[in-house]
Amino acid sequence: MPLGLFPYSRLEVLRRQHRFAKASKLFSKHRYFIFFFVVYTLLLTRCTWIPALNGAVDGALKLSGLRYSPITLSVNFSTVQFDYRLLTEPMVERCVDKSLFVFIPSRPSAFEQREAIRQTWAHPNKTTKAAVFFVLGDAQNDSLSEAVEEENRISGDLIVTDVVDSYRNLSLKIYTSLDWYNMFCPNVPFALKIDDDSVAELDRLLHFVETEFDKGDNKTIYGVIWRGTAVNRDANSTWYVPKELYERRRYPAYCNGPAYMMTSTAAKAIIEMAAETPLLQVEDALFTGILASKALVRRVDKSGIFWWKDVVRAVQCDDQGVPRLATMYPYPSPKELFAAYSRLLRVKCKQSADWVRRSCQEIEAPWREDGLSDSQLAQAVAEKKKEDKTED
Ligand SMILES: *[C@@H]1O[C@H](CO)[C@@H](O)[C@H](O)[C@H]1NC(C)=O
Ligand SMILES: *[C@@H]1O[C@H](CO)[C@@H](O)[C@H](O)[C@H]1NC(C)=O
Ligand SMILES: *[C@@H]1O[C@H](CO)[C@@H](O)[C@H](O)[C@H]1NC(C)=O
Ligand SMILES: *[C@@H]1O[C@H](CO)[C@@H](O)[C@H](O)[C@H]1NC(C)=O
Ligand SMILES: *[C@@H]1O[C@H](CO)[C@@H](O)[C@H](O)[C@H]1NC(C)=O
Ligand SMILES: *[C@@H]1O[C@H](CO)[C@@H](O)[C@H](O)[C@H]1NC(C)=O
Repeated sequence: MPLGLFPYSRLEVLRRQHRFAKASKLFSKHRYFIFFFVVYTLLLTRCTWIPALNGAVDGALKLSGLRYSPITLSVNFSTVQFDYRLLTEPMVERCVDKSLFVFIPSRPSAFEQREAIRQTWAHPNKTTKAAVFFVLGDAQNDSLSEAVEEENRISGDLIVTDVVDSYRNLSLKIYTSLDWYNMFCPNVPFALKIDDDSVAELDRLLHFVETEFDKGDNKTIYGVIWRGTAVNRDANSTWYVPKELYERRRYPAYCNGPAYMMTSTAAKAIIEMAAETPLLQVEDALFTGILASKALVRRVDKSGIFWWKDVVRAVQCDDQGVPRLATMYPYPSPKELFAAYSRLLRVKCKQSADWVRRSCQEIEAPWREDGLSDSQLAQAVAEKKKEDKTED
């Protein structure tokens, strides 16, 4: 892996191109004036190829990325509805013939973390079957927004919306990501949500998609499944959910937030259900639990593959010798991310260790876990605990 390329060679380019961006903006602002000036001059010289010129100017504007995308989409939860716009035109053609759409929620200011991801697990050499995009909101800061636009001009992988970027708006970021996926990459059969402090080995993940995941149109989410998690009623907590928005004491079975994968049919069904569901800040419980269960999306535990601990030792492998480990976190700095990625690549096979076998046990969640009463759920959790104990 090219550690030497770091630090931030691309960032340097970004900075150098900043001045160019400003000039482009100026041109963009006055482009109609410039256009009419040119046309008027040409008219004076009795030029007859004006329509062609018009098309050429249009094409040039589009090529230079100066044209704003006019597309308006809408967020539609039962408690919150509004229209939003896309502020960038990422390279949609990346989705052609791909098996996996990867979306990474990211803060506008996290340039270095994004660059570290592009140079490690999302490197073009590593993603011949995956299309990787970062999803950002509106930075509400002109210089930051300009830098983000410029970054997208170079990398073409930023989906930027005008929804205010904040941690509290994370659920809206997931919504807009799935909305974008449904709209622009509907033929890519799977979507992976993964945080920007995670590393992944996409080829390994896709190997298991080939060998053991559902093909076809079953609505399914795969990840590390939490069961019987109590709803947080502490008004001071980040994960607080008031009774008015969600009545039950426990969430339906849902996926651990940092990395989960769903079929495109699941993504569609989940977005459709939002219109009759209140918006909650707890992104994972909302999308992979509440909405998934309403939409009859199956949740399948693959905690071997989506294991979240940093495994320095070996893990279980399949019969072709592929380690059952494809994602790890959290690595909040580029340096940690680089180191973790090389550990993930070097992971070895180990067949017999008990703790590994337990961690790799994969169970299918029932179709509608929230059909259970609280006491039934509590009983299920207790039984699971007892099972775990006897295994120890
Ligand atoms: C990516 O692939 C190209 C062409 O195969 C190769 O020249 C280059 O060294 C590779 N880069 C990395 C970082 O693997
Ligand atoms: C806007 O972003 C720039 C660059 O990241 C930063 O230096 C500046 O403090 C920000 N301004 C505001 C008002 O937050
Ligand atoms: C979330 O986004 C909406 C839409 O852009 C905005 O009106 C709202 O202020 C944001 N909320 C927070 C907490 O940032
Ligand atoms: C869909 O899910 C069912 C139930 O688990 C399973 O039996 C079937 O094989 C799946 N279909 C496909 C095409 O994977
Ligand atoms: C929440 O925070 C406020 C002020 O910070 C404090 O007065 C209150 O006791 C806290 N409530 C709980 C339930 O911790
Ligand atoms: C939200 O979805 C509902 C149900 O599909 C629909 O009736 C309503 O018009 C939608 N609202 C907006 C603002 O799109």
